[in-house]
Amino acid sequence: MQSSSVVVLGSAILLYGLSWPCDARGSDAYGLDSGLSNYSFPENFILGVSTAAFQIEGAWNEGGRGESIWDKFLHEHPTYTPDNSSADVAADSYHRFKDDVRIIRDLGVSTYRLSISWSRILPNGTDNYINAEGVQYYRNLFDELAKYNITPMVTLFHWDLPQMFMDLGGWTNPEMVDYFEDYARVAFNLFGDVVKIWTTINEPHQHCYNGYGTDYFAPALESYGVGEYLCDHYILLAHARVYHLYDREFRPKYKGKIGITLDAFWADPLDPTKEEDREAAERYMMMNLARYANPIYSAEGDYPAVVRARINTISQLQGFPRSRLPYFTAQEIEDLRGSSDFFGLNHYTTFLMTPSRMEKGWRVPSSDHDTGVRLSQNPAWPKPGAEWFSVYPPGFRKTINWITQKYGTKVPIIVTENGLSDFGGIKDYARVSYFNKYMYQMLLAMYEDGCNVQGYFAWTLMDDFEWKDGYVSKFGIYHVDFTSPERTRTPKLSALNYREIVRTRRINFDYIVPPKTASSNHI
Ligand code: NOJ
Repeated sequence: MQSSSVVVLGSAILLYGLSWPCDARGSDAYGLDSGLSNYSFPENFILGVSTAAFQIEGAWNEGGRGESIWDKFLHEHPTYTPDNSSADVAADSYHRFKDDVRIIRDLGVSTYRLSISWSRILPNGTDNYINAEGVQYYRNLFDELAKYNITPMVTLFHWDLPQMFMDLGGWTNPEMVDYFEDYARVAFNLFGDVVKIWTTINEPHQHCYNGYGTDYFAPALESYGVGEYLCDHYILLAHARVYHLYDREFRPKYKGKIGITLDAFWADPLDPTKEEDREAAERYMMMNLARYANPIYSAEGDYPAVVRARINTISQLQGFPRSRLPYFTAQEIEDLRGSSDFFGLNHYTTFLMTPSRMEKGWRVPSSDHDTGVRLSQNPAWPKPGAEWFSVYPPGFRKTINWITQKYGTKVPIIVTENGLSDFGGIKDYARVSYFNKYMYQMLLAMYEDGCNVQGYFAWTLMDDFEWKDGYVSKFGIYHVDFTSPERTRTPKLSALNYREIVRTRRINFDYIVPPKTASSNHI
């Protein structure tokens, strides 16, 4: 029974929560850490929760679904993750989507960000055959959400490319632009009536860098410094194509919005007093965020001039006959410019930057080598989970400000992901603290710095398949029991805390406080 696998939010709050109206505000080094936030989320500010198809759905070969690059990769490399896991079942959302909707409802959020599995709709990738069962799955999910007035925000591509395209070179193949447009047209035709907020691509940088530029993610092409830029290039063009498709053929009747989601770590100088470290930090942001954002959001369009100059020069010194960074035509620059109704931002952590010509583990060529920056994190920052993850709340405010300074306030920022990695536990005080502090930094960016942020989605609704980290690193605000066939979902403290933020539209730093004796992962 689906219902038996959900533990509903409820009286647990009495056990763990303390809630009182409070004007006295305490503060830590980064802002508030006690009392009630002096700022609140405006009425029309979207508070939501996020997932991605491959990480939760499972049912990889059921209901007519085709194979994706991640299925193939995990099946061929069973020891790729630390727990030797796959996403064959994951949180089993394919069968338990009603449980998902129930817990989303319990949170009280207005909007649910999810992605469509391309190969569930088009098992071969191409639109010559549409899989009715796959379509029905998403229809049922959207209907269930609609019953409770929950708005879906749908990502078309969250990394699970149909395998067939990989055999043709994946995103390094210019033809992908056409194929992505075909798929998007099918999705808009099928679901445009109910889905009014779309994102084309999730984190092109992480997908292309890790999957094409290294072996960290599927498809593990290891085409350092070459394939990764081709992937970026065609994925950006595919995004623009689909933006204009929606704009031209679907927006007039459905009146929706469409944009892209970019990932941004914050880059602080290792030693802020050193000019070279400040330059390294700025270079990192230009190479890893502006390389994607400039073509879309800047007034002039195209890759940033500093990025173009750097990769051109290094390519030349390396004896390449032309730049490893492809060129857009004048028409493509125009097509990309302004091709997003919002700036979808995923932010998790901060790194410290100092210049470096070469580091152990870098390849030549590679985007790491092109960027020429050594990354580290402050050992004083809490590190509750994944190896890449440290907690530094001000990095969030700085990221939002950096984007605003570069691209202005006309296009709103929607934070499509933000959340904490740990190694599990229902009493996730560290995650409660992370959300409180990061969300407060976002409020500061909005109210004190004048940044135009219009939405926030917590990553993620429930524990899921965390790519390279399998099920070891957890991001869920609901615990999922992966040992039970029901994949029971149980609220963590962070779910209770987030529900309270959604309900009051403020952050109460004292709503959930760790008991003095808690040995849990408090930060
Ligand atoms: C961003 C990705 O979009 C998501 O799939 C992933 O789980 C989170 N980062 C956490 O690593």
